[in-house]
Amino acid sequence: MKQCFPLVFWGMLLALGASAQVGEVPYPYRAYRGLVVAEHAAAAAAGLEVLQRGGNAVDAAVATGFALAVVLPSAGNLGGGGFMVIRFADGRATTIDFRETAPRAATRDMFLDAHGRFVPERSQEGYLAVGVPGTVAGLLLAHARYGRLSRSEVLAPAIRLAETGFQLTRTQAAQLNALRTAFLRYPSTRKYFTKDQPFREGERFIQKDLAQTLRRIRDKGVDDFYRGQTADLIVAEMQRGGGLITHEDLATYRAVERPPVVGTYRGYRILSMGPPSAGGIGLIQLLNAVEPFDISRMGFGSSATLHLMAEAMRCVYADRAYWLGDPDFVTIPVQGLLSKAYMRQRMAHFRLEQTDTTHCRLHGDPLAFESQETTHYSVVDEEGNAVSVTTTLNGSYGALVVVDGAGFFLNNEMDDFSAAPGVPNLYGLIGSEANAIAPGKRMLSSMTPTIIEDPQGRLFLVLGTPGGATIVTTVFQLVLNVIDHGMNIQQAVLAPRIHHQGWPPVLYYERRGFPMDVIENLKRRGWNVLEREGTSGRAHAIQVLYDPDPLAPRPYTERVYLAGVDPRGEGAAAGY
Ligand code: DON
Repeated sequence: MKQCFPLVFWGMLLALGASAQVGEVPYPYRAYRGLVVAEHAAAAAAGLEVLQRGGNAVDAAVATGFALAVVLPSAGNLGGGGFMVIRFADGRATTIDFRETAPRAATRDMFLDAHGRFVPERSQEGYLAVGVPGTVAGLLLAHARYGRLSRSEVLAPAIRLAETGFQLTRTQAAQLNALRTAFLRYPSTRKYFTKDQPFREGERFIQKDLAQTLRRIRDKGVDDFYRGQTADLIVAEMQRGGGLITHEDLATYRAVERPPVVGTYRGYRILSMGPPSAGGIGLIQLLNAVEPFDISRMGFGSSATLHLMAEAMRCVYADRAYWLGDPDFVTIPVQGLLSKAYMRQRMAHFRLEQTDTTHCRLHGDPLAFESQETTHYSVVDEEGNAVSVTTTLNGSYGALVVVDGAGFFLNNEMDDFSAAPGVPNLYGLIGSEANAIAPGKRMLSSMTPTIIEDPQGRLFLVLGTPGGATIVTTVFQLVLNVIDHGMNIQQAVLAPRIHHQGWPPVLYYERRGFPMDVIENLKRRGWNVLEREGTSGRAHAIQVLYDPDPLAPRPYTERVYLAGVDPRGEGAAAGY
């Protein structure tokens, strides 16, 4: 039975919850044989279609990824990059790094003016902002090594969605209208993503050139995108706008399979993304920092818990800024950063009564937080294989440049490098030498696709989120919400979030997230507390329950998949 579950049904869910027990509201969407949770209903449905054709979780994740490139042009992509964490049913785990790289002609100071001052317009929009795209190489590598269906079967839903169109959501129509003026700056973007009348919710959006590009990828694989006709179109687009990417950059791009970073938290095993993402290391450091405390008793949303989490965040982001970069270019003390003893020492100054900002200090200049767009999807199949993917163009619609003739947006990922030591990027993040620009180098990321095993060694959580610098702190809070606060994954995703990244020295909380006396208590403890404009992240996650479930149709009673769909976005779960 196929079920799609767009979040317009929230009201209904909450109404049903009226008869549920406290702690079970909202009752999560559940599936028994396979489940896909993604930021667009059509992309989740694409993954489900592939599962039902006999594909495994990797096939479904690849199909969802290509479908997102069609139905979520702001973040789903062919012209960007990302990270995939896979855990097979037998417990083996691996990751695919398909992060973009700096073109060969990139130079360390390319975003500085003649006076050595950072010019953010150059790294955040237009042709110079574009890194060599990794998504097609990454998805096809995962598919070739671990998929079961043919390339043509996993690409079919995306091709269909591009060819026959999909309905624009309310947010998408609003975004396209709001960005019209910016899109007019680039002739190819103007051609595909603007029109004379405003876009309307529910309008069918057809992408014929993108359908052709996807067909070429279906027929010729990476050869088309990196050495064939699509490569020619990308290079021609670069030449029209003064970009740096050449045929050689594309031909030499490689997605890389790497082991996951591994940690533990209260007996649970954390498998996450290592460098060039700072996500996995940051998540495990955060968990190590708070593990000695009885968070369950301290309680969700109490000022003591928030104070402890914020202190951990401050210290971890200081490490990130100094130590992390592309592991193929810099040496990162991974084991030291991941050690529980190191984190205990790092948090030794912590006092429950007061924050001490002389510790874990950073310097820099904040940039205003800007609109952001990345996307996360989680997939599980009938055998218990699990895939967790975060992918991005970086900013919403990336560099705002579409490849003419190919129909897809290019990323503005070059902004994730440190343009100069201590200079903040789009997300206010600062970095050092380790993340300086160099030809062929991967820029540091916050993306944190993660899979967690329970103390019995069984698959337990599949999770991740977009949100720039807030990615790591959001995943951290989801883990505490489930493991320490006993929430189900849907409640964990709904719960209000905080964020601190060291610099700027501000503890952000989501609007109306916490009671005023909690906020006042945090101020008394020395925090500079600020209500965040907008929300933090759009997490799409899965939890596995093993208890017999009276609601499950036989014979699927011993394992139930629960969806955590984030109402901060327009996500959906599709399972069977
Ligand atoms: O790799 C990174 O950390 C960023 N490029 C992610 C950007 C992002 O999450 C924007 N999202 N909402």
